[in-house]
Amino acid sequence: MRIGPTAVVIVLVAAALVVSLVLWLAQRHAAEKGATLAQERCAACHGADGNSPTPTVPKLAGQDPDYLYQQLRAFADGARASDIMAPVARPLSDSERTLFADFYSGKTIKPDEDGSRANWARGEQIFMEGSGDAPACNMCHDTRGGGMMGGRGGMMGGHGGMMGGRHMMGPGGMRMGTSGPVPKLMGQHADYIADQLDRFARGERSSQPMGNIAAVLSTDDRKAVAAYVASRN
Ligand code: HEC
Ligand code: HEC
Repeated sequence: MRIGPTAVVIVLVAAALVVSLVLWLAQRHAAEKGATLAQERCAACHGADGNSPTPTVPKLAGQDPDYLYQQLRAFADGARASDIMAPVARPLSDSERTLFADFYSGKTIKPDEDGSRANWARGEQIFMEGSGDAPACNMCHDTRGGGMMGGRGGMMGGHGGMMGGRHMMGPGGMRMGTSGPVPKLMGQHADYIADQLDRFARGERSSQPMGNIAAVLSTDDRKAVAAYVASRN
């Protein structure tokens, strides 16, 4: 029997369909596994869809997946100290970290409804323009396309970054290199943001450039910028 070109094409197309079906099923399986694990191990604190109901527990919904992945590693190896997250993060395998990161980044963040509106103007000013020695937050955070200086496809760091690991000078000669993916802040709980800024400033959460940046903001300004981002998305 002669096998004509049409038969060959049909076989190839069928093979391609089988391969994509298998890939699709594998992807769906991973997504379902991520959802189940998140429900079992994280939802009690971070909410079923990553919008934690507790002001001191961060929302994970819509967060940059590389950032989530990296923070889970940091909790596990102690680079970011947390009595609550350390025991949760330590037993996770690398592929589980990826499952959680993908699951939560695919959800939609819901901004707080009642951020203290009084400080909006000051908070917005700091975020957009900076203040004194503190650079504008939007140089790195919540820029369109996932941030100029980090995250996937970022210009200056993270995956495929043009300038990862280098330093540039901010106002007042502040060293502002970013070492990793930049988290989204819009819609995050104000209390959580303000608390993290205090910890950066005290050096309790050690991170550059955030240590220097938080330290030059006054406590009131940290609260104002936290209230501003919490009410946005
Ligand atoms: C008992 C409550 C609790 C559980 C359970 C929990 N978390 Fe957390 N999580 C927290 C708290 C509180 C923080 C803030 C930690 C800090 O900075 O001190 C946090 C922080 C995080 C952060 C950092 C977010 C950011 O914006 O920097 C990630 C990522 C995270 N948790 C992922 C998870 C995942 C994934 C699970 C499930 C495997 C989980 N958490 C389970 C309470 C919890
Ligand atoms: C030069 C880039 C850059 C600038 C400018 C910058 N940040 Fe950041 N920020 C980062 C990076 C990178 C991280 C992640 C740090 C880490 O991995 O520990 C971060 C983390 C944070 C976090 C922790 C978020 C979370 O989910 O835990 C907060 C809060 C924050 N920044 C607030 C600000 C504010 C407010 C400003 C402006 C006053 C600002 N940042 C300016 C790069 C920057």
